[in-house]
Amino acid sequence: MLVAPSILSADFGKLQEEVTQICQAGCDLIHIDIMDGHFVPNLTFGTPVLNSIEKYATKPFDIHLMVENNSFFVDLFAPFKPKFISFHIEEEKHANRLAQKIRSYGISPAIAINPHSDLNTLTYLLEYIDMVLIMSVNPGFGGQTFIPNTLEKIKTLKQMCQKINPNCLIEVDGGVCKDNITALKECGVDIAVAGSYIFSGDYKERIASLKNC
Ligand code: DX5
Ligand code: ZN
Repeated sequence: MLVAPSILSADFGKLQEEVTQICQAGCDLIHIDIMDGHFVPNLTFGTPVLNSIEKYATKPFDIHLMVENNSFFVDLFAPFKPKFISFHIEEEKHANRLAQKIRSYGISPAIAINPHSDLNTLTYLLEYIDMVLIMSVNPGFGGQTFIPNTLEKIKTLKQMCQKINPNCLIEVDGGVCKDNITALKECGVDIAVAGSYIFSGDYKERIASLKNC
């Protein structure tokens, strides 16, 4: 299991130190939640914050867009050379085109999907993307409770990926902790995003508990 701490739960007053510490604690990616106050009722980071932390980040960024006007934000964040940029299928009329645009920057395109959204919307997109980000809470805030029927949804997605694009990774985001990580792994999750769980304890121990599930 790869682990991507969401810095939404970090102490923003000492963000550089927090980023240094999670990298030293063995994370694989740094999950960056970009919220615009429109697609979700919350605001987070812009490029000045990423400029401030990028030199402390020894692991690649994993950018999760929760915004309107995805294409604009892809152009804005592409210079940070993240490993992934995920955009929400609920907010994109031209998903195939946007995936190609992300790939043209040398970045792996990924699609995020809300808890209530039907996986069938991904059928004709899976072959063009490198990862699906399954939301296991409604996006917008850290510290929410994991929605249990996500497990069934992940199993179905895994079957779809095996059929259409076996290289497509599955990332889960929202309420991930030591109590659900084994079940998530069994369903086929490759990357676990965790915010409040990691940042409310010893970073090394918490990351290890997710990696070694
Ligand atoms: C929610 C964000 C998540 C969030 C996860 O909209 O996409 O990445 O930070 O936080 P936890 O792990 O606390 O649910
Ligand atoms: Zn996220």
